[in-house]
Amino acid sequence: MHIQSNSETRVKMLLNLTLILFSLIVMFPPGKLLLTAGDKVVISFDDAKLQEDNELRWTHNKQRVYLKKGSQIKLNKLNVSEDGSLILETVQKDKSGEYKGIIYDAEGNLIKETIQQLCVLEPVPEPTVMVECVEKGVNLTCSAVNNDEVVVSWMKNGMKANVTHAVLHVSSSELKSGDNFSCTVSNKISKKSAKNVEPVCSDTDMSEKRFLFGLDLWWMLVILTGGGSFLLILFIICLVWVCRCCRRNKRKAKLTSSVNYFQIHL
Ligand SMILES: *[C@@H]1O[C@H](CO)[C@@H](O)[C@H](O)[C@H]1NC(C)=O
Ligand SMILES: *[C@@H]1O[C@H](CO)[C@@H](O)[C@H](O)[C@H]1NC(C)=O
Repeated sequence: MHIQSNSETRVKMLLNLTLILFSLIVMFPPGKLLLTAGDKVVISFDDAKLQEDNELRWTHNKQRVYLKKGSQIKLNKLNVSEDGSLILETVQKDKSGEYKGIIYDAEGNLIKETIQQLCVLEPVPEPTVMVECVEKGVNLTCSAVNNDEVVVSWMKNGMKANVTHAVLHVSSSELKSGDNFSCTVSNKISKKSAKNVEPVCSDTDMSEKRFLFGLDLWWMLVILTGGGSFLLILFIICLVWVCRCCRRNKRKAKLTSSVNYFQIHL
């Protein structure tokens, strides 16, 4: 029983070790060179010497880019120095990938092989924070995050916020006037921060002042104008009614007076 558990732990340890090794290899592939666009790179054969009658081949991502047999250069899409080293004067992103150089002797025997991985990155551009007032808050978007391998972080009032998306949503309850925000974008070779922004949204700005006696200002307005119109209509109706009454009374008075006249004369 005891022996079994012991061997089990050993197997587990071995598994863990392989996992760690595997992840290390994935994280740091052997010989991967990180470069900034515009850098100069020379990939050499180290100690090996290129002889006059040797054959030299260079490939980039398995595509042949250079071939020399003896003194005859059959293909030279890229620059190669006297000793066989590959020279890239100003690398750009499209020059990323695997470079492989091989030297054979005149009989076709392998003398030396060299493999180099290049990873060319552009420095990140300076980002800007775009403010968009949305319902019940504000959405802040960090520009210049269309690039791959770019990491975003956010600062609120100079403190790191726990968000790594390009869009930071701040609800109106979390937003005080004077709060400032900035984002930082970085990749393995560069890092730049945006200028601080102080988002002001009419919605969030008004939310405290707009409420009067617990009522929304708009509702107050609706009630006031509605009530006012109702009173006005009531007043007009009364006025019309009173006028009609007046007129009817006058007519009645005329009528009675003429009746009296007839009565007198008859
Ligand atoms: C950041 O957010 C994650 C998940 O949203 C949470 O688990 C973690 O505790 C937070 N960290 C800090 C420092 O607030
Ligand atoms: C604002 O951000 C939130 C959270 O990221 C998202 O769900 C919402 O769709 C965004 N609103 C707009 C108008 O972009």
